[in-house]
Amino acid sequence: MRKLLLVGIAAFALLAGGAIAGDYHTGASLNCAECHVMHYSQTHGYNSDGSGITTPLGGSGPYHFLLRNEINALCLSCHDNQTYAPDVLAANGGNVPTNGRQAGALNRDNTAPYYDATGHTLGSTDAAPGGTWSNADGLNCINCHQQHGYGGSVAVGNNPYRNLLYSAGGTAGPGVSYSVGTNVLTTDVFETSAGYGGDHYDIQNVAFNEPDETASAYGAWCQGCHTNFHGSSADANMRNTTAATQEEWYRHPTADAQIGFVGGGHSNLGVYSAHAYRVHVMSPTGDWGTWGTAWTGAPADLTPSCMSCHKAHGNQNAFGIIWATGAANWGENGDGTTYKDLCGQCHVQG
Ligand code: HEC
Ligand code: HEC
Ligand code: HEC
Ligand code: HEC
Ligand code: HEC
Ligand code: HEC
Repeated sequence: MRKLLLVGIAAFALLAGGAIAGDYHTGASLNCAECHVMHYSQTHGYNSDGSGITTPLGGSGPYHFLLRNEINALCLSCHDNQTYAPDVLAANGGNVPTNGRQAGALNRDNTAPYYDATGHTLGSTDAAPGGTWSNADGLNCINCHQQHGYGGSVAVGNNPYRNLLYSAGGTAGPGVSYSVGTNVLTTDVFETSAGYGGDHYDIQNVAFNEPDETASAYGAWCQGCHTNFHGSSADANMRNTTAATQEEWYRHPTADAQIGFVGGGHSNLGVYSAHAYRVHVMSPTGDWGTWGTAWTGAPADLTPSCMSCHKAHGNQNAFGIIWATGAANWGENGDGTTYKDLCGQCHVQG
C-alpha cells in the first residue's frame, strides 16, 4: 500500500468540490476518502479499473478514527508543497497567490527563515500566551479548523470562514462568518474570489467587515486561547475604563477603537490613508480603498484587529508580525526592515 503515490490526487480532490463558492472540506466538497481509510490497507484507487490514487497511508498506523495518518502529517500531505491545495507550512512550494497567502505560514522545524519564534508551531505543547490553553499532544490543525466543516449553506454564515472552529480553545462561538463574491456587511469576512485555487487565498482577496463596531469576531476567535489579549474599550483587561473615551489602553486595541478618533499624538487617519499598501483593518461600510493607491476620503470608523499586525499561521518575522511600510506591496512578511514599520501605518511617532 505504501506504493500509493500522491500523483493523481489533484483530480481526485477537486472533482469532489467542483467550482462552488465557499469553503472546501464541507457539505458537497467533503470527501471521506481524502482522510479516512476503512481497514488501514488499500492496494488500489477508487476507480473501477483500479486507478485514481489518493492520500498515502502513514507508516505507523493504524490510526484512531480510521485516519490515514497522524493529523498534521495527514493534512500536510496535501497542504505542503502541492499545486492543488493551499500551502500552509513554511515556504510556499505549491500554488503561489499573487500577493501572498492571507494566513501566512506555520512553522514546525525551527529552521531559517521559519524559526519557532515566527508564529504558530505545529506540535508545540506550550501554553498560549495570555491564556492557559495548551495541547499536551502538540498543536495541530484541528485545534483551529473543523475537519468536516459544519455542513449546510456556505454562502453566508453557518459554516465559519476557512472552516474555523466555533469554539477554539473550548470557548463557545459565535465564530467568524463570511460572504463570498458579493459582500454582506453583517458577515465578518468578505472573500472577493469565489473560485478555488491560488488567488482564493490571496491577501488582497480577503477583506474584513465590522458588523458590530464594539467587537471583532476574528479577535474573539483568537481570544479562545489568548484569553487576555482581546476585548472592547469597556473591558478592564484592555483599557483604563475610567479614562477618556478610547484612551489609556493597557493592551493594544483589537476592537472598539477608530483610527484617528482621539487625535493629537494618537493614531492618525491621514497617516494611514496616505499609504498606498495598507494593512487590513475592519470597515463597517465595506470600504477599504484601493490596493496600491493612497486613499482619499477614508472613513473615520476603521478599526485594527489581530489581522492588522499578525499573520494567523505566522511568517518569517518574530511573532508573525507584518513589517509593512505602506510604500510597496508587502506580501506575507512586509516590505520593511523592522517591526516599527508596521506602527508607522497608523501612528505619527518616529
Ligand atoms: C486529499 C487532499 C487534502 C487533504 C488530506 C486535506 N486537504 Fe484541506 N484542502 C484540500 C483542497 C483541494 C482544498 C481546496 C483548494 C482550493 O481552494 O483550491 C483544501 C482547502 C482547505 C482549507 C480552506 C478552506 C477554504 O476553501 O477556504 C482548509 C482550512 C483546509 N483545507 C484544512 C485542512 C485540514 C485541517 C486538513 C486535515 C484534517 C486537510 N485540509 C486535509 C485538500 C486536502
Ligand atoms: C479533511 C480530512 C477529513 C475528511 C475529508 C473527513 N474526515 Fe472525518 N475526521 C477527520 C479527522 C482529522 C478526524 C479526527 C477528529 C479528532 O481527532 O477528534 C475525523 C473524525 C471523524 C469521525 C469521528 C467523529 C468526529 O466527528 O470526530 C467520523 C465518524 C468521521 N470522521 C467521519 C467522516 C465521514 C463520514 C466523512 C465523509 C463524509 C469524513 N469523516 C471526512 C478528518 C476528515
Ligand atoms: C487553539 C488555540 C489557539 C488559537 C485559537 C490561537 N492561538 Fe496563537 N498560540 C497558541 C499557542 C499554544 C501558542 C504558543 C505555541 C506556539 O507558538 O505555537 C500560540 C502562539 C501565538 C503567537 C506567538 C508566536 C511566536 O512564535 O512567538 C502569536 C503571535 C499568536 N499565537 C497569535 C494568534 C492569533 C493572531 C490568533 C487568531 C488568528 C491565534 N493566535 C489563535 C494557541 C492558539
Ligand atoms: C492556531 C490556529 C491555527 C492552526 C494551528 C492552523 N490554522 Fe489554518 N488558519 C487559521 C486561521 C485563523 C486562518 C484564517 C486566517 C486569515 O484569513 O486571516 C487559517 C487559514 C487556513 C487556510 C487558508 C489559507 C490561507 O492562506 O488563507 C488553510 C488552507 C489552512 N488554514 C489550513 C491549515 C492546516 C492544514 C493546518 C495544520 C497543518 C492549519 N491550518 C493550522 C488558524 C490556524
Ligand atoms: C497593533 C499591532 C498588534 C495587534 C492589533 C495585535 N498584536 Fe499581538 N503582537 C504585536 C507585537 C508587535 C507583538 C510582539 C511583542 C510586543 O511587542 O508586544 C505581539 C505579540 C503577540 C503574542 C505573543 C506574546 C508573547 O508572550 O510572546 C501573541 C500571542 C499575540 N500577539 C496575539 C495577538 C492576538 C490574539 C491579537 C488580537 C486579539 C493581537 N495579538 C493583536 C502586535 C499586535
Ligand atoms: C492599523 C492601525 C494601527 C497599527 C498598525 C498600530 N496601531 Fe497602535 N493604535 C491604533 C488605534 C486605532 C489605537 C487607539 C487609540 C489611539 O488612537 O491611540 C491605537 C493605540 C495605541 C497605543 C495606546 C494609546 C492610548 O491612548 O493608550 C499605543 C501605545 C500604540 N497604539 C502603539 C502601537 C505600536 C507600537 C504599533 C506597532 C507595533 C501600533 N500601535 C500599530 C491603531 C494602530
